[in-house]
Amino acid sequence: MSFLKEIERRRTFGIISHPDAGKTTLTEKLLLFGGAIQEAGAVKNNKIKKGATSDFMEIERQRGISVATSVLAFIYKDKKINILDTPGHKDFAEDTFRTLTAVDSVIVVIDVAKGVEEQTEKLVEVCRMRKIPMIVFINKLDREGKDAFDLLDEVEQKLGLTVTPLSFPIGMGYDFKGIYNIYEKKLNLFSNENKQTVSKGIEFTDISTPELDKIIGEKSAKTLREELELVNEVYPEFNKQEYLNSELQPVFFGSALNNFGVKELLDCFIQIAPSPQPKKAEERLIDSKEDQLTGFVFKIHANMDPNHRNRLAFIKIVSGTFKRNAPYLHIRLNKKLKFSSPNTFFAEKKEIIDESFPGDIVGIPDTGNFKIGDTLTEGEILNFKGIPSFSPEHFRYVNNADPLKAKQLFKGLDQLMDEGVAQLFTLDLNGRKVIGTVGALQYEVIQYRLEHEYGAKCSYENLNVYKACWVDPENPKNEEFKEFKRIKQRYLAKDKQGKLVFLADSAFSLQMTQDKYPTVKLHFTSEF
Ligand code: G4P
Repeated sequence: MSFLKEIERRRTFGIISHPDAGKTTLTEKLLLFGGAIQEAGAVKNNKIKKGATSDFMEIERQRGISVATSVLAFIYKDKKINILDTPGHKDFAEDTFRTLTAVDSVIVVIDVAKGVEEQTEKLVEVCRMRKIPMIVFINKLDREGKDAFDLLDEVEQKLGLTVTPLSFPIGMGYDFKGIYNIYEKKLNLFSNENKQTVSKGIEFTDISTPELDKIIGEKSAKTLREELELVNEVYPEFNKQEYLNSELQPVFFGSALNNFGVKELLDCFIQIAPSPQPKKAEERLIDSKEDQLTGFVFKIHANMDPNHRNRLAFIKIVSGTFKRNAPYLHIRLNKKLKFSSPNTFFAEKKEIIDESFPGDIVGIPDTGNFKIGDTLTEGEILNFKGIPSFSPEHFRYVNNADPLKAKQLFKGLDQLMDEGVAQLFTLDLNGRKVIGTVGALQYEVIQYRLEHEYGAKCSYENLNVYKACWVDPENPKNEEFKEFKRIKQRYLAKDKQGKLVFLADSAFSLQMTQDKYPTVKLHFTSEF
């Protein structure tokens, strides 16, 4: 197959949702269609259940699973589908944000009864900002839930999207009769008996025919006609380009658990979802069709075996063909490296591969060469953008609890930070180290992993920080910046890249600082 055809047939995307909306179930059903798994239940639930915060075996088990399910690839109707897993737990939100830099589109899953939830809002906001094309799947129609129109309103208002339904439910919960597929003009009837078989759907180009009344009953037929008329009047017509520009979001309804509405979603997805998109580097825009290899690391996963501290770096191929044993330039290290055993992911397996194409994810065993955000090329100096650090929500001093193991502690912290588990700041005043995280759970993960993988012990001490702000002086030489540095010395630190960070202890002091030093810009992300 030609290089261009390989690119065109790839669909690399992520599924995002609030925990429990049905992301795992939907993923599994998509894999079933791809023939990548044979039966339901094969994809392990990759989430940390509520209340499991101190259960480290659980965390370890989850980490094991998440290597296997980090990338799930399969072929469907000759399209190569790569699903990138995104952890649903909010304490791992950074991981999800980084994964979103490697997808070309997303599917947003929403629970029909719960509507738009907090985690969905946060993740969709990131996708909106990055103009990632989104399809919305409203799940669990077999249960009582919100009215479809109310839900569409909620999606528009809370998520700031412009939606257009491409399917519409006929009843819900106990009365759920099926779905009218607006995109294909087909009727799909729901049967409670044979849950896993997929009905072909009945062609129904003209819903005014009395045939419809015979099939779903007069009352439901009347309601459906009225509702579809309303859909027609209220919502814009689907336009593929608008969807690709992230200006319009198609909505599907269904029940992942019952495998209902999933095939419609997938069939439409492969037709409209984008193949690998151009990506911005600091230097220029790189098109996926360029023949020179470029790619970047968006995720690093520590190996499960504590005796071998090697890791797996996940690289998204942006352009060109990735070849086993070919020399590639590691931009940050300015070093050519060859990779003898790059892994590809297929269904739940990973295996060594000779060639990969744009859109694919390659897993490279690594002993410490890679950090999140690193770029590989064939020689051109390029740095892919868009993997910023966000201000953490929690801050604690980290202390060495075993003086004989200082080296191990330092190395462990260094590597865990490269993996993106948390952020490390070093205070200017006294060199003390501060760990910043998105969720409290990470502190326990770090402590556990330092001990089990590096033989080091740490303890924490509370530190009152409201936000970490990356400092961006308009003029580093002016008096104002010098005064800022002198007066605020106690609150200044460096991040791992050596960038200056202001650790504000309250919203009030942050505001005061901004007012007092207007030429010193403070940002909540490391890229601005
Ligand atoms: P997540 O990955 O988004 O966190 O959600 P997951 O797929 O694990 O689904 C959360 C729960 O919702 C699961 O039930 C799952 O079976 C259920 N679910 C998913 N899709 C549907 C649907 O279409 N209809 C109904 N009625 N339920 C659905 P659980 O009891 O938490 O877990 P399990 O014991 O079934 O695995």
